[in-house]
Amino acid sequence: MDTDLLQQTARKMVAPGKGILAADESHPTIGKRFGALGIEASEENRRLYRQMFFCSPGIENYISGVILFDETIRQSTDDGVPFPQWMNSLGIVPGIKVDKGVKPLPGHPGETVTEGLDGLRDRLAEYFELGARFAKWRAVINIGENLPSTASVVANAHALARYAALCQEASIVPIVEPEVLMSGDHDIDTCETVTTKVLQCTFEQLQQQGVLLEGIVLKPSMVIPGSEGPVAGIKEVAQRTVRCLTSTVPASVPGITFLSGGQSDEDATSHLDAINRLGDHPWNLTFSYGRALQTTAMKTWGGKPEALESASQAFLKRARCNSAATSGTWEPSMEETAV
Ligand code: 13P
Repeated sequence: MDTDLLQQTARKMVAPGKGILAADESHPTIGKRFGALGIEASEENRRLYRQMFFCSPGIENYISGVILFDETIRQSTDDGVPFPQWMNSLGIVPGIKVDKGVKPLPGHPGETVTEGLDGLRDRLAEYFELGARFAKWRAVINIGENLPSTASVVANAHALARYAALCQEASIVPIVEPEVLMSGDHDIDTCETVTTKVLQCTFEQLQQQGVLLEGIVLKPSMVIPGSEGPVAGIKEVAQRTVRCLTSTVPASVPGITFLSGGQSDEDATSHLDAINRLGDHPWNLTFSYGRALQTTAMKTWGGKPEALESASQAFLKRARCNSAATSGTWEPSMEETAV
């Protein structure tokens, strides 16, 4: 375990003005998103689509790291440069999703636990060789009637901590992602209570497993009402999110990169902006968005080679707006201007 490398990588991932592009959708997930737009889910289409992001001119001004899927870390640009090498040439850190997805938690209907610990040590060694310097593991917590159960919170936090310890042993920075889902009709108060409990338990487990907090990046969901619940204002989301993080996340964690979790592009940006307008925080607060960086670009591309350049421009616009949000300097008028 190279602790200097871990701390250096973690700081690079949350460098001021930059955030992470999550491009690690599993085959079924990207297949569904392509399918909805009539795009064939072939290996070459996935490569072309992701290359469009990675080769967007100036991406390195806004993006510090990219989370890849197993297939993608082994793919190359049109010119035959392996994607991890291409990213390194731009100063972008290549990362890899290592969890194997969620499975039903036995005895707990409506709840899941993330799998993927078996064999993880060997997979991490290979990913390090392939160039990955950080990893991602997503735990999912559902809010519902009497949910989440303590069993699901503890099982998911324990798995996150075991994963994080294995990553650090391999000198790979773990992104610790406990996602509290937005699905449901719960209010923001419920989300705050659940997220606080989940983060408390996650840090207890990380400490029990001896994880170096200076060498992780936390990827939480924001404190936000359920998608069918009573709406909350942007400032309220920001204030509650910061309150929840302040009470649970030690200052030794270098950075927090939010997931977008199904928020619209502009909501994800304006919430991050409002969070950063609340003043100095002990950690850098930035983005690690999947859908909120990709949705417009994917629609713009639609599988048409002639639309790749406009798709890339659509992506750069989101990246630039989110970059501004990391310093609380995003303005709605930025949504009107081209890149
Ligand atoms: P979303 O921003 O679309 O939630 O994706 C981020 C991610 O990496 C989920 O694991």
